[in-house]
Amino acid sequence: MKPKYYITTPIYYPSGDWHLGHCYTTTVCDAFARFNRMKGKDVFFLTGTDEHGQKIAQKAAEAGMQPKPFIDGLVDKLKEIWKLMDISYDKFIRTTDEEHVLSVQKIFEKLYEKGEIYKSEYEGWYCTPCESFWTESQLVDGKCPDCGREVTREKEESYFFRLSKYTDRILKLYEENPEFLQPKSRVNEMVNNFLKPGLSDLCVSRTSFDWGIPVSFDKKHVVYVWIDALTNYISALGYGGEDTSLFDRYWPADVHMTAKEIIRFHAIIWPAILMALDLPLPKQVYGHGWLLIGGDKMSKSKTDKIKTELVHPKALCDRYGSDAVRYFLLREIPFGSDGVYTNEALLKRINADLANDLGNLASRTQAMITQYFGGTLPKFGETGAEDSELIAECEALFGRVDAAMTALNVPDALTEIFKVVQRANKYIDETMPWALAKDESKKARLATVLYNLAETIRLVAVMLKPYLTKSPDVILDSLGIDPATVTDFSSAHFGVLAAGSTVKKTAPLFPRIDINKELADVEKTVLAEKAAKKANEKAKTHERKQKPEITIDDFDKVQLKVALVLAAEKVEKSDRLLKIRVRLGDEERTVVSGIQKNYAPEYLVGKKVVMVTNLKPVKLRGIESQGMIVCAENEEGKLAFLSPETDIEDGSEIF
Ligand code: MSP
Repeated sequence: MKPKYYITTPIYYPSGDWHLGHCYTTTVCDAFARFNRMKGKDVFFLTGTDEHGQKIAQKAAEAGMQPKPFIDGLVDKLKEIWKLMDISYDKFIRTTDEEHVLSVQKIFEKLYEKGEIYKSEYEGWYCTPCESFWTESQLVDGKCPDCGREVTREKEESYFFRLSKYTDRILKLYEENPEFLQPKSRVNEMVNNFLKPGLSDLCVSRTSFDWGIPVSFDKKHVVYVWIDALTNYISALGYGGEDTSLFDRYWPADVHMTAKEIIRFHAIIWPAILMALDLPLPKQVYGHGWLLIGGDKMSKSKTDKIKTELVHPKALCDRYGSDAVRYFLLREIPFGSDGVYTNEALLKRINADLANDLGNLASRTQAMITQYFGGTLPKFGETGAEDSELIAECEALFGRVDAAMTALNVPDALTEIFKVVQRANKYIDETMPWALAKDESKKARLATVLYNLAETIRLVAVMLKPYLTKSPDVILDSLGIDPATVTDFSSAHFGVLAAGSTVKKTAPLFPRIDINKELADVEKTVLAEKAAKKANEKAKTHERKQKPEITIDDFDKVQLKVALVLAAEKVEKSDRLLKIRVRLGDEERTVVSGIQKNYAPEYLVGKKVVMVTNLKPVKLRGIESQGMIVCAENEEGKLAFLSPETDIEDGSEIF
């Protein structure tokens, strides 16, 4: 049986605002998956979406939708990006998949039965955007240490996982398996920040919202979203289900690839859960750096602040092709460290490496074979002093690339391939085929030179296949090779091309870009898109759908009451929301309402408003909204709350 190779990306939050930074982990994993497939391994490459949690429920509520249909549309968008980027995943898991839900429930039950999970009460600081609890000492200036945002004090009955008892075992794991957590700097981070101070037990259930996987034996609890999410790596293989053949075949994973900010979950919590389940641990966890833009992580909340960089994968692929985008991601960012993205850096990479080095080598070789030998690859003729170094570099290439890939170093692997490209360009300068062509007695030497060049670009195309998904096939095709027949590295050595093959000219693989002109055009496009997006959002807000006819019974389901506003204040860091305290007769409630732009809080105090009182509560910015104030809205987005025509007691029913 073929050796197996199981590689995973983190599963993505369905944010909808995916940018180039998000493509990084997945493109890197794709290169490993393709490389290992070509090495003859039986590869399983997993990616997917992480769909539960308060943050997503809130977003869906803000869009006026139920979470699942809200997420479905976003998942389709993500799959489109992966298609554009030629991501060859074997499975796309969604944490709302039934098999995943059952698997998480089984794991929770098992851990509870084993005493690894127990029931208690949690009190701590919670960061809603990060879905993370923090202790007082972990906060930085009273804010979330990961994202710097406000945290709220939360207290609730919870289940806990006995993470504390795994401190020593995880330390030992790092000591005994130096390869487990890479790069090395991540080990120091984990040891100094989390393991040395000692791990605390982990709160693994929530009761304050319900968009999650219910704990099967205590349904008012939903499983903490990170436990739910991490489990995807084994639920995707059928763990806990009836058919465990994939699990038996592929687990443990060879590599969990993730970015550095979520390494704590993968290198501490996940191994501890697996230890508690008596399951083997993944062989390697890799915490890569971030793609920075203007020195900042391209987080979802920041994409809009990026002034003129083109960051959306579709726009980039449309302009430059997915090969150029993949190449930039795989090559420019030193693996394990952060890398900086700018439009200019991308264009320079395209011009220097892809257009000048690779594109020129391919087109010059094709052109010379066409011009001097009528497009038929000549027979190997006369060797020369210049040949040996080029051939030696070609012969060594597979070994060098393989070593870099084994060390999980993709940029180095590409550097090795491009060294050969550069060596071949130098070989053209040294051998001067155009001069040889002028002298009939040098024809045999010219034949060898062109054969060596054709053979070098063939080898380069084979070696590039895991990284670039389109141009290597164009090169192979130009040399008379059916790209579909190149599925492994068996031809990754020198001397494979047969003399007599037909060589044809192709369109330039990567046309040279006029950088200044392109930068100006990109800037114009980005600014225009931003303006259009803004206008579109505005128009959408005012687009009113014709609702279907309802019966009086339907209408009767909505409970409307008169409410008196007791107090109102702006919700911190929101330019839309007001937190409003109302009285409904002998009952008081809090509602969060998006009317800040139209009403000053003080103006509302003392007013009587119409309120929907039987709407399911939702949390907005950490505040539970227990109802909705009814407003009229005109086409410009102006809002006006409704008020009874004459004074009437608050709490009065409206029907
Ligand atoms: N849902 C969690 C992962 C759960 S895995 C059990 C999550 N999702 S995410 O959508 O926010 O991020 C997905 C991946 O993209 C993460 O590895 C994240 O770090 C990565 N990146 C997001 N922005 C990035 C950059 N700017 N640069 C590099 N990677 C980035 O985290």
